[in-house]
Amino acid sequence: MRPFYQTTIKQDPVILGIESSCDETAAAIIRGRKLLSNEIVSSASTQALYGGVVPEIASRVHAVAIDEVVERAIRAAGIEKEEIDAVAVTYGAGLLGSLLVGLSFAKAFAYTLGVPLIAVNHIRGHLAAAYLDDETLKPPFVSLLASGGHTAVLYTKTETEFELVGSTLDDAAGEAFDKCARVLSLPYPGGPNIERLAKEGKPCISFPKMCKGGEMRFSYSGLKTAVINYCHTKEQKGEPVIRADVAASFQSAALDVLVEKTVETARKKGVATVTAGGGVVANGYLRERLKSACDQAGIRLVLPEKKYCTDNAAMIASEGRIQYMAGNFAPLSVNAKAQIPLKDRSIS
Ligand code: KG4
Ligand code: ZN
Repeated sequence: MRPFYQTTIKQDPVILGIESSCDETAAAIIRGRKLLSNEIVSSASTQALYGGVVPEIASRVHAVAIDEVVERAIRAAGIEKEEIDAVAVTYGAGLLGSLLVGLSFAKAFAYTLGVPLIAVNHIRGHLAAAYLDDETLKPPFVSLLASGGHTAVLYTKTETEFELVGSTLDDAAGEAFDKCARVLSLPYPGGPNIERLAKEGKPCISFPKMCKGGEMRFSYSGLKTAVINYCHTKEQKGEPVIRADVAASFQSAALDVLVEKTVETARKKGVATVTAGGGVVANGYLRERLKSACDQAGIRLVLPEKKYCTDNAAMIASEGRIQYMAGNFAPLSVNAKAQIPLKDRSIS
């Protein structure tokens, strides 16, 4: 079949990024590495009423919001839609019904404009957010990825080549924050609420640090159990649970190890730069710890702004630029994927 687009690869392409993998409907425009607009509609406040993301609600909000969010992104970028050179969209991992809204919209949009469609792996998007923060950023560098679904340390060799250095054996860091929040009766989303509560407490409870045998294998399910056991034991003894101390102690147990292992990897690989991405990287404590550890080790830290750590479309457009330059375009038959494993070397 003849491609539905004609393209000569441009040096500074205008790319529309679309993200709808979970509870955020987002669209952004970049020209080259410059972000022109970034729009988002979130169903998080509705989801909070149910204590977590209800997939059907997420899909419905996407279906209602997608037209307007894309239109807003084009308007805010000050461009005409005919100037768009490619449409990049998250095709996985995520909630299938949610992904399909963004993907179907992107297919129709790319087809109508006659421009290439780029199918973006959400996780690669999180890693590509760092390119938005610093237009001079170039591999090699080491990245910390910490989101609701993944926790990993990666070595980026080129813009398209990765090596997975370490990852979690069970729960992801963000998942651990969300579960611990539930134990402490904090509302959804757990991460920011634990961070807020932790500011009022001290990290005085010794929860286990979650790294197996000094290796690059994280494990968070034991930490969650330790928090549950601590609270139950206190209640059984009729002693008060100081929730702010539990939050602060959990936070440092969950995050210190990530900082330690990221900087250790950067040293071993001999790279001068560390980057980070994913919702958990919006955590102020993690950002400060990472900054001081990198400063101490003489390593440059490139941290995306908080709004580019949690789900957004700017990061999808950023990864879209990398795939565009590599000529990696998707057919219209590309389907949404609920899961994409984080593999060594190729996170396609
Ligand atoms: O990257 P993200 O927005 O979505 C996924 O791709 O998973 O990450 C969401 C995760 C949630 O588990 C949320 O609790 C966590 O990131 N998160 C945080 C913070 N903000 C979001 N965790 C700790 N501290 C935060 N401030
Ligand atoms: Zn995400």
